Amino acid sequence: MFEPIERVPGDAILGLIQQFKDDPNPNKVDLGVGVYRDESGVTPIMRAVKAAEKQLIDDEQTKSYIGSHGDPEYGADVLKLVLGANSPVLAADRASATQSPGGTGALRLAADFIASQLPGKSIWLSEPTWPNHLGVFSAAGIEIKRYPYVDDQNQLDFAGMLAALENIPKGDVVLLHACCHNPTGFDLSRDQWQNVLNVLRERELLPLVDFAYQGFGNGLDEDAYGPRLLAENLDEVLITQSCSKNFGIYRERTGCFIAVAKDTEQMENVRSQLAITARENYSNPPGHGSAIVATIFNSPELDQMWRDELKVMRNRINDLRKQFVAGLEPHGLADRFAYVAEQRGMFSYTGLTKAHVERLRDEHSIYMVGSGRANVAGLNADNIEYVCNAIAQVVK
Ligand code: LMR
Repeated sequence: MFEPIERVPGDAILGLIQQFKDDPNPNKVDLGVGVYRDESGVTPIMRAVKAAEKQLIDDEQTKSYIGSHGDPEYGADVLKLVLGANSPVLAADRASATQSPGGTGALRLAADFIASQLPGKSIWLSEPTWPNHLGVFSAAGIEIKRYPYVDDQNQLDFAGMLAALENIPKGDVVLLHACCHNPTGFDLSRDQWQNVLNVLRERELLPLVDFAYQGFGNGLDEDAYGPRLLAENLDEVLITQSCSKNFGIYRERTGCFIAVAKDTEQMENVRSQLAITARENYSNPPGHGSAIVATIFNSPELDQMWRDELKVMRNRINDLRKQFVAGLEPHGLADRFAYVAEQRGMFSYTGLTKAHVERLRDEHSIYMVGSGRANVAGLNADNIEYVCNAIAQVVK
């Protein structure tokens, strides 16, 4: 029965992890998969996370199931983190949190929910977007459509995006990146979010906001501007969230699917469906990551420690962006790559072509995604000049 099954290439982003590992070049640089790296190239366990884990070893009483919606304390914490502690949406009790196995698990919950409860609706993704968005939504049988996001000068194409949104059929779903757009790093300004809100409202579109990098752009609250604006001004909003990145607990798969409805009654109806969706997928989410997050939020001291550590990570990335552009100055390339300093989050759409990316890998052992996406956090004082020189060589 298995004879006709063909072998397929693996995931392009995750595949880079192995390619990098196998490269014997001591000067190799990993700008591939979206994990944070510190100055020494390590993806550290945050001190607040370590402290919470120590506490959990002593305090945790059971490893029994936490239920299809996950840990209620974690859910309440995430709602406050995402929507704001004083959110009118929370005061009105119209938001529901369903803990998920990472942000990807939240996306799959969203996809299955749309497929089963809003049949026939297409989802509109930015061009470009995180490649796995296409995989997750097509796996759930949802038709995928695209709206433009970046122009051929490698700048945010907001006019093109808005014009496309204005023509989307009523009731379709639009996926928006809350901040730190993956793969481009181009984020919407507050005015642009307001414009998007107006079109969503006029066209009666359902926003699905992917919020995987809260705290990596301009700050925890600053990065939440878009999702909060939509949740406070629209009856219905879906948000997929991740603590995997901003707590550095990638492998603990710690995310959340938030459904905002018109009122408590409708929210509870939606929520009841999500319990079934989760049950049919994986039954109950994993519990360790959510226990870490809840423990941190439960302690003012650990909470502050976590916020401070996240700030260090954010500032490091934003500094590296400036250093990268400065490092290209002697090559006469600072203007060409000036947008890298303006982009936000871990990723930069460098504007490098697939051919450039291949040469960087083959001739310099520098690894990035074929689209030209670089993980800025992979740069450090030891490799930034090497990377800038190599880029100068391949683009000239
Ligand atoms: C990335 O885009 O590199 C990250 O979101 C990791 C992943 O799962 O692809």
